[in-house]
Amino acid sequence: QTDNIAYARSLIRTIADYPQPGVSFRDITPLLADGRAMHAVAHELLVQAQGDFDVVAGIEARGFIFAGAVATLARTGMIPIRKAGKLPKPAHRVTYTKEYGEDHLEVSPDLKPGMRVLLIDDILATGGSLKAGAHLITAAGAEVTQIGVVLELEGLGGRLVMPQTRALLSM
Ligand code: PRP
Ligand code: MG
Repeated sequence: QTDNIAYARSLIRTIADYPQPGVSFRDITPLLADGRAMHAVAHELLVQAQGDFDVVAGIEARGFIFAGAVATLARTGMIPIRKAGKLPKPAHRVTYTKEYGEDHLEVSPDLKPGMRVLLIDDILATGGSLKAGAHLITAAGAEVTQIGVVLELEGLGGRLVMPQTRALLSM
């Protein structure tokens, strides 16, 4: 399994100066395209969570991919945490700050009070997305028992904002 995670890491593509000069973009699409890497990552996210949840939530859009995979392996349901305006009847909404301006996350009433939630995203950068996602789950009366990401980007402060996050990889 360690070999498989190292293999998954090797598939993350770095693109210089995207989306802006000076930024190194970590592109996970080659990992998504590889069955061995995807299975290993989903399995390891599940193992790290130690079974302490009854539903998996993922943050739109890239978090959906891994949350859905983990939920399938765990045989639980999946709760999409969506960006603004996508849900017909959002039960809860939070506002969070992005690099440029504000955005909103929303969740449907399918997230019930008392649910124990494994919260998943692809990447921890500044931590703003996961912080907002966790806040939303709490606002719904549910409990975030675990937080998992595939990749932590170093030096952007996310570890300080969301110290409980378990990351499979960092770079
Ligand atoms: C990216 C990434 C994480 C988030 C990490 O999502 O998928 O969700 O940023 O950054 P943060 O820790 O600073 O919040 P983004 O909102 O760019 O869009 P996408 O997932 O819809 O592609
Ligand atoms: Mg995202």
